[in-house]
Amino acid sequence: MSLLEKFERYPLTFGKTAIEHLPRLTEVVGADVEFYAKREDCNSGLAFGGNKLRKLEYIVPDVIASGADTLVSIGGVQSNHTRMVAATAAKIGMKCVVIQEKWVPHYDAVYDRVGNIMMTRLMGADSRLVDDGFDIGIRKSWEDAIQSVKDAGGKPYAIPAGASVHKYGALGYIGFAEEVAEQEAELGFKFDYIVVCVVTGSTQGGMIVGFAAQDRADRVIGIDASGTLDQTRAQVREIVDNTSELVGLGRKVRDDEIHINPDYAYPAYGVPSEETNDAIRLAAKTEAMMTDPVYEGKSMQGMIDLAKKGFFPKGSKVLYAHLGGAPALNGYSYYYKDG
Ligand SMILES: Cc1ncc(COP(=O)(O)O)c(C=O)c1O
Repeated sequence: MSLLEKFERYPLTFGKTAIEHLPRLTEVVGADVEFYAKREDCNSGLAFGGNKLRKLEYIVPDVIASGADTLVSIGGVQSNHTRMVAATAAKIGMKCVVIQEKWVPHYDAVYDRVGNIMMTRLMGADSRLVDDGFDIGIRKSWEDAIQSVKDAGGKPYAIPAGASVHKYGALGYIGFAEEVAEQEAELGFKFDYIVVCVVTGSTQGGMIVGFAAQDRADRVIGIDASGTLDQTRAQVREIVDNTSELVGLGRKVRDDEIHINPDYAYPAYGVPSEETNDAIRLAAKTEAMMTDPVYEGKSMQGMIDLAKKGFFPKGSKVLYAHLGGAPALNGYSYYYKDG
């Protein structure tokens, strides 16, 4: 039985996401570990989709019930999340204010004009650039934006960074875990590990609760891209506890079921290392799979490196959760001018 039965869902995605075999990447890495990807990046027709839509599907019913007229959220300049909040607002006919903070020490002439932020503006959101640095917690700039909507006579609905510390923020990724189990039954085999990028925490947090119900939460390998590991780990722990309680998991998830690897976030959130860029190039050249320098390139690097180091036992089937994010590539074009 689904843990999500009692929760309302407003569809923003196409439905189940495809699981794709990655034979060329598997062969080039050559570690006797079979790679697959679950394509959350292709989950919707709304502005290129991505993981946030799975989360927002369980938040929108609460938005509608609240009688709000404006979604208010926050992220970095090239935030995928604010793009997805802007898309959701457009789709459900609401206004949208998004704060875009200077989370990334990356300098590019068109960084604040292309990719995610360009689409956010195109969808009609009021995108406000703010100079503050990276922090996944609750921010004053966001609280000020909420107040500004009230001052103008509007009714705001506040969505935190990454939709993560929202009561319903992790439900969507419980759905992911249940979907994987259904797809495994169709495929006739099970995945030994799931690799997922983690920053604000509700993607991995939801997966952990969902896979805990299948007794394999410890097989979810989070690859940190925040570079602020303690804060991300604490946020995942809190999300896992609150969500387990909310859905009635019936037990507390143990610390040893929460696996977050800090080794690939360097040099900083939003800045790719040479090794991250190599992983982005390899996934593109072998599988035509686009990953980005902020999130998915780092989890791709982590998956490849862990396979080469023998972390996954020989013969393992590893499922890479591709969470989206490719639009940000446009803000980093100089790295890839020669491919
Ligand atoms: C493409 C992409 N991958 C991974 C993540 C990390 O997910 P979460 O913030 O739920 O930990 C995000 C958002 O922060 C994202 O946009």
